[in-house]
Amino acid sequence: MSQICECWGLTRKKVEEAVRTRHLRTPDEIYDHFQGVGCGVCIEDMEAIIASCEETTKG
Ligand code: FES
Repeated sequence: MSQICECWGLTRKKVEEAVRTRHLRTPDEIYDHFQGVGCGVCIEDMEAIIASCEETTKG
């Protein structure tokens, strides 16, 4: 399991699922969706997940 967010114990899979099903488009939306407040260290990982989800949902 690749955990990308230590604050909330989120795995990549869990974040990807939320991005797809809730149509989250920014790291802030992801943070709000889960807990609201975190350290922000994982923000680049969140952005990467959003980007990869956007690519795979195109077309
Ligand atoms: S590691 Fe994700 S908010 Fe802290």
